[in-house]
Amino acid sequence: MTAIEYAKAHETQFLEELKALLRIPSISTLPEHAGDTRQAAEFIAAELARIGMENVRLIETTGKSSTQHPLVYADWLHAGAGADGKDKPTLLCYGHYDVQPPDPLEEWTSPPFEPVERDGNNLYARGAVDDKGQMWMHVKALECLFAAHGGKLPINVRVIVEGEEEVGGEGIAAYVREHGDALRADAALVSDTEMFAPEMPTLCVGLRGMIYTEVEARGAKTDLHSGMYGGVAPNPFVALAQVIAGLKDASGKILIPGFYDKVEAPSEAEMAAWKRLPFDEEHYRVSEVGSSVLTGEPGLSVMERTWARPTLDVHGMPGGFTGAGAKTVIPAKATAKISLRLVAHQEPAEAFVQFRDAVMQLCPAGIELEVRLIHSGDPILIGTDNRYAKAATEAMQEVWGRETVYIRSGGSIPIVGDFERHLHIPTVMMGFGLPDDNLHAPNEKFCIANFHKGTESVIRLMELLGS
Ligand code: BES
Ligand code: MN
Ligand code: MN
Repeated sequence: MTAIEYAKAHETQFLEELKALLRIPSISTLPEHAGDTRQAAEFIAAELARIGMENVRLIETTGKSSTQHPLVYADWLHAGAGADGKDKPTLLCYGHYDVQPPDPLEEWTSPPFEPVERDGNNLYARGAVDDKGQMWMHVKALECLFAAHGGKLPINVRVIVEGEEEVGGEGIAAYVREHGDALRADAALVSDTEMFAPEMPTLCVGLRGMIYTEVEARGAKTDLHSGMYGGVAPNPFVALAQVIAGLKDASGKILIPGFYDKVEAPSEAEMAAWKRLPFDEEHYRVSEVGSSVLTGEPGLSVMERTWARPTLDVHGMPGGFTGAGAKTVIPAKATAKISLRLVAHQEPAEAFVQFRDAVMQLCPAGIELEVRLIHSGDPILIGTDNRYAKAATEAMQEVWGRETVYIRSGGSIPIVGDFERHLHIPTVMMGFGLPDDNLHAPNEKFCIANFHKGTESVIRLMELLGS
């Protein structure tokens, strides 16, 4: 039996196992779920050991994020040399087992941690596609290869799965910096991205980086009655609104001095390739965004704006009174959670200094501002002219029977930059999410056919690299 045949014969079993993993609410940002998060790590470790991977272990992280969850490591390094006498390559398979919080719960058609198959071909659950389902494809591909190749793999494989991706990935970043040798490989495989459209095999060659910040504004020494003191007391929310309004203009241009200095336009060839992708802006506006207009820099396409331009967004402004009804108070302090997405060649450390300086410049009278960096990650742009990208292109073409397209994504996966900088290896980003999979949102799903074809694509990638 070939590995692909083995995969096809075990589709139901693989899906049921994934459901068991999805039942574990491994929400990395919530301390009350730390036990669940560890349980997910143990679940994956147990399976890696069962299928024949070696040196399986949990590695405790020592990053600076507020919640810490272990890495899962495994390897199998006995592929030896090929007929040409050259050593088979080593592939580092990366995924993350942590998930985003599921709220707002009332928006879910079925509970987020009770996976169900619905509308024919979708599996609904938090983490279905981001990233438990996609990580599980790697594990299942390895199982199929072991089964079909007499207990061996066609190439050397290391597996590293993290549990802090959704909170910035500081733990794995520190591990890669300090123990890079333990992850020595020729290339990394990441399945945590999307296909451009259904049935369109896609290699993602670029991700945005980011800095995630908190700006805290303090005014009076205590909360004050807004009637007695309104007119003299500084208001931290109004101050933050003024600061934010000064950071970005109505056309979407970020007003931070020097911020665009290193931003480069995509090459003409890349832009031409993007123009060939099937894209209906009006359909995208209605079905994906659901707003009355699309905002952003005039004259630039949606792809340029989301893949090749930096942005600034506000995620929440904790503080003051947010309960039902009214309370007349001037809060003593308020916070804004602000992130900036960065594109290739921008540097997070430099961008943070530029951001902090710009915020301080905008500080209104009577207000004290503090700007904190919560986490950051490098933008990434990957060439396709290497044997790993070529093998992935071919593997997907074989499995899907259609030409593989190259895209960038607007999202961030912080560790990919570290793979390049510290391990000096290229990453293949071969992902199988779909644009309507509701990542980070209610009713997250994974197309079940993509789960199976994704597994087959990983199998063929490893077989091609080993032949
Ligand atoms: N898998 C996503 C990133 C992604 C989404 C890449 C869609 C390509 C297409 C990842 O899990 C994610 O959500 N990353 C965070 C990173 C952050 C918390 C550091 C993001 O992009 O917001
Ligand atoms: Mn992800
Ligand atoms: Mn995510």
